[in-house]
Amino acid sequence: MNIKTSCRLLMAGLLPLFFFSLAHAADIKIGVAEALTGPASQYGIPIRNGFELAADEINAQGGIHGVPIQLVVEDERGKKEEAINVYKKLAFRDKVLMIFGPTLSNSMFAAGPIANAAHFVAFGTSNTATGITDMGPYTFRSSPMESDVVPVTLKSAISHLHIRTAGIIYGNDDAFTKSGYDVFRKSLEDQHMVIAGTETYSRGDVDFKPQLTKLMALHPDAIICPCLSEEGANIMLQARSLGMKQPFIGGNGFNSPQLIQNAGKAAEGTIVGSPWFSDNPSPENQHFISAYRKKYGTPPNQFSAQSYDALYIVADALNHIALSGNLNSDRQSLRDALPKTTHIGATGKFAFRPAHGQDKKPAGYDADQLPFVYVIKNGQFVLMK
Ligand code: ALA
Repeated sequence: MNIKTSCRLLMAGLLPLFFFSLAHAADIKIGVAEALTGPASQYGIPIRNGFELAADEINAQGGIHGVPIQLVVEDERGKKEEAINVYKKLAFRDKVLMIFGPTLSNSMFAAGPIANAAHFVAFGTSNTATGITDMGPYTFRSSPMESDVVPVTLKSAISHLHIRTAGIIYGNDDAFTKSGYDVFRKSLEDQHMVIAGTETYSRGDVDFKPQLTKLMALHPDAIICPCLSEEGANIMLQARSLGMKQPFIGGNGFNSPQLIQNAGKAAEGTIVGSPWFSDNPSPENQHFISAYRKKYGTPPNQFSAQSYDALYIVADALNHIALSGNLNSDRQSLRDALPKTTHIGATGKFAFRPAHGQDKKPAGYDADQLPFVYVIKNGQFVLMK
């Protein structure tokens, strides 16, 4: 490039872009490890859709200083072993800059240590169990934890329903459902509710009538169900078939519209918290909803709003760092830029908050967002006023 050309580029404000593009002729590869088949695909597919919509938009606006983002998407099937395989493939074969997912906390606990050992960012947009970010400083999440959401949900449920006693049913072999149980139990105690009885199930169970029959005999005012959507819908249907009329109160697993599709009328009256205010009239949210509908022909949900925002959060961080083209130092630069990154998106204002490593080892970053509380009414999530 001669002096004359340099001056012309400089005057056009394009010189930094030119050098950046030279260093990064290749796309910026970002791994997406989500459950695209199996029961957890109820969450994983909308999550993948949110990332793809955001990538389309960011790339249409010139990518990151002219360099496009390329999503490398893999199906981790909602299984721990598959999450580990997919993480290894994305990190070491595809050499992605960072990885979003896996979908379930259970799988993130299995795959997250790979990111912390190999020093690249593992970014969950749907993991809400306690302890995810304690795995190490390369673990991030944009999904508020059960311990941030459940106390707010419960407080709202108590004041609207005037409930005093609760029966609990949860899965004791899944990280999210077990963590949801721990958080609900503490929160019930803090809010002076009486726990009438507690029942458990295992992954893959389909008959919950024995446990529900025991809870029914205790006549609790409400049923606490920190369950994933598939089991949650079956539990609701079987509870109604036994004649139980109690409202259900759940955690993040209940934020899927698939719960309503599968449980139908049995889900009416269910209460759940979410950081996404679907009717938020903000331009960011309205744009997201209409762009999602246009691309996919269906309305978005909380999980797609969170993944859509998450790719913008990473893009904002990337826009603030000068990538060198050296994968290791670029992975570290992204890790160091993320904690300072804030964003206003479909889910409103977003910022990270340092996790408090329970064993005092360096920890990652949690979402600093508060929830809205919804009740399922006429087959829709309706904001509780
Ligand atoms: N919030 C659920 C989990 O963490 C999807 O597993």
